[in-house]
Amino acid sequence: MKRIGVVGAGAMGGGIAQVAALAGLEVLLYDVGAGQLEAGLGRIRSSLDRFVQRGKLSAADRDAALQRIHLTTALQGMANAEFVVEAAPESLALKRQVFGELDRECPAGVILATNTSSLSVTEIAAATSRPDRVVGMHFFNPVPLMKLVEVVSGARTSPGTARITMELACQWGKTPVQAKDTPGFIVNRVARPFPGEALRLLGENVATVRQIDRVAKLAAHFRMGPFELMDLVGMDVNYAVNRSVFEQFFFEPRFRPHPLQAQMVMANLLGRKTGAGWYRYESDQIVDGPAGSQYATAPAPCLEEVGDVCVLGDDGLGQLLQDAGYLLTENVGHAEVVVACEPEALEQVHLGYDSLVLVEASRLTVTEIAARIPRPERVVGFGGIPSVVERQLVEIAVGMRTAEATWQQAARFFHSLGKDTEVIGDGPGLIAPRLIACLANEAAYALMEGVAGGADIDTAMQLGVNYPNGPLAWADEIGPRRVLQVLEHLHRHTGDDRYRPCPYLRKVVLAGTTLRS
Ligand SMILES: NC(=O)c1ccc[n+]([C@@H]2O[C@H](COP(=O)([O-])OP(=O)(O)OC[C@H]3O[C@@H](n4cnc5c(N)ncnc54)[C@H](O)[C@@H]3O)[C@@H](O)[C@H]2O)c1
Repeated sequence: MKRIGVVGAGAMGGGIAQVAALAGLEVLLYDVGAGQLEAGLGRIRSSLDRFVQRGKLSAADRDAALQRIHLTTALQGMANAEFVVEAAPESLALKRQVFGELDRECPAGVILATNTSSLSVTEIAAATSRPDRVVGMHFFNPVPLMKLVEVVSGARTSPGTARITMELACQWGKTPVQAKDTPGFIVNRVARPFPGEALRLLGENVATVRQIDRVAKLAAHFRMGPFELMDLVGMDVNYAVNRSVFEQFFFEPRFRPHPLQAQMVMANLLGRKTGAGWYRYESDQIVDGPAGSQYATAPAPCLEEVGDVCVLGDDGLGQLLQDAGYLLTENVGHAEVVVACEPEALEQVHLGYDSLVLVEASRLTVTEIAARIPRPERVVGFGGIPSVVERQLVEIAVGMRTAEATWQQAARFFHSLGKDTEVIGDGPGLIAPRLIACLANEAAYALMEGVAGGADIDTAMQLGVNYPNGPLAWADEIGPRRVLQVLEHLHRHTGDDRYRPCPYLRKVVLAGTTLRS
């Protein structure tokens, strides 16, 4: 392939033209007016200049790439292209009109690709006489930096069309994944629980915006918190994508938007672009963002009142305690602190009268656990998914009967282990386990429904939205059974069908296998 066409010279079309030209192709770039084309070319030039300044590109290669980009305001010019990518505004009527015209102008063998992020590839293809040669080619913003391309097959896209599009994406230095034409494709669907559950946690008053973002970053290793991300993307865009996926799935509860999204949009608190969203921004810099970790580099001293600690269930945690200077005991009754990595571990043990009891509480609420223990005021929940050892921050959940002195002591105890804490309400699934379990559940649904293969789903989430781990591989590491238990707990506790576990996840647990196998 030597010559491609790009329709639309905006943020995405310009980026696509740039990567194709850098890969050595002649690019015919179309837009409705000369002004839009000049602006588009200006953005491409600045982007290439930045690569040159950073030493990533030679000036000669930049100039050669720019010379390969040819501007046109005549769609008929696309007749000379061997492959066309459309990146016009996100309107079904407009895209169907553009595809109808492209179908008339371009020779029969030419593949027509759309960069739509939320519309049906099948419906766009139906505006042409060649639905077998229409495909989704979903790039991510900014195109020159983001490696991922979702190659989306509509109901009538031929395997050959998908294969050629995959090859072309590779030739442009991208990592393509194959997806079926379903609402949100892979990334915009599987990522929904990240803001979705964050909004629910906030709406249920379990934790604040800053707490949720800190837990997402310092406990679950997401590069950005869900609220920081919503501010970056824009609340209007976030809300529109959410609604679109919800409606296209005929009101599936897993995708139900939250009233807080609508309220933020009504208040024009759209995020970075309006200078205020969940956080405030000055000169595009966040003013009041979530704090980093405090205790990871400078742990607090060991608790003087604690002699022996008993850990029920996790060797890694025992080592962490010893490294911090605590003495471990197997005698539960003698321990000043008992750490139960599973609530069941507390069954039939005799706790000391004044022991501080720390219980992993992602599968039962603290209040439920404490109701079975003689001194519920001494019980505090903590998040153990991911494991405490892997975290810089631990969420501490306060049950209905937990005493203030108890959760304060629990916070000091974790600080002495080099862990920051966030003291939160007794919501089901806590924060990190709920975010991860719901993402894994959505990925399992996408896998079960054949939207994409397991490896492609994980790759898409890592490259498209920078997740620290693919959600399926992550669930396998945590253990599918534990993920299932978090979801069952959320489902039972809330009665909300959005938490019903994916049948495929259940089967994996019953079979004792993994999601990725
Ligand atoms: N911006 C993103 O983060 C992003 C990410 C992935 C996919 N997309 C999708 O890419 C497409 C383009 O988005 P964008 O962010 O580049 O938008 P944009 O507004 O930056 O660019 C759209 C361009 O299309 C031009 N245009 C208007 N009418 C046209 C027509 N009839 N024919 C051809 N071009 C026309 C506009 O002049 C403009 O230059 C949309 O479908 C969007 O959903 C966007």
